[in-house]
Amino acid sequence: MEKKEKLYEGKAKIVYATDEKDKVIVYFKDEATAFNAQKKDVIEGKGILNNKISSLFFQLLEKNNIPTHFIKQLSDREMLTYHVKIIPIEVVVRNIATGSIVKRLGISEKTEFNPPLIEFYLKNDALGDPIICYEHIIALNLTTDEDIKIIKDLALRVNKVLREFVEKANIILVDFKLEFGKKEDGTIVVADEISPDTCRFWDKETGERMDKDRFRLNLGDLTKYYEEVLKRIEK
Ligand code: TMP
Ligand code: ASP
Repeated sequence: MEKKEKLYEGKAKIVYATDEKDKVIVYFKDEATAFNAQKKDVIEGKGILNNKISSLFFQLLEKNNIPTHFIKQLSDREMLTYHVKIIPIEVVVRNIATGSIVKRLGISEKTEFNPPLIEFYLKNDALGDPIICYEHIIALNLTTDEDIKIIKDLALRVNKVLREFVEKANIILVDFKLEFGKKEDGTIVVADEISPDTCRFWDKETGERMDKDRFRLNLGDLTKYYEEVLKRIEK
């Protein structure tokens, strides 16, 4: 597998072409951003941890018959994935209320959502990823009604698998963000990354935050907690 030109650089990852048109290499950087990149830092080693954790979670999903873009982990910071066309919607699943929903809707912190709540955000940094609803998705032609049904079903299946898995590692899956992509044959797959950058994980015993909120809220020791997540899920 030969690494070719850079196709795209985002806030936390770089995507490279390969000598096979349908496959790309995803490189995980150490950059951390929050609040639409108003807060920025470099956290040494974060990229390595997110690559390893994402790779493990993608393998877990595949084992549970949930299609993803993941093919294999290539190195400390790189994974090989299918080249997909990203659907420009960020899908957030919430089991417990915290973060933006608490501020936006005045819901009490730690309110449980049963069934889990699904939200859609427009993937557009210039607009600060605004929240949108089903009708916006259709009106803006972001994807089809049929695709949304598939995406919702996949998002809830990811939640169930991930939640039960991390629970065994004494971790509560509070909420997370997914992105979906389309393969050349039209199949919708879970794409991007699944890591403590994109999920909220709370220690079941202590309630400590084991995710990017350590950076967002200036709690410190980010890599220590990401390492702990990795250690617990590797077992
Ligand atoms: P929020 O409470 O800030 O809306 O975040 C909900 C979940 O989505 C949380 O697990 C963090 C994740 N997330 C991202 O992965 N990327 C983002 O840009 C934002 C805002 C949240
Ligand atoms: N990744 C987003 C950003 O930079 C925000 C976040 O994850 O909180 O802006």
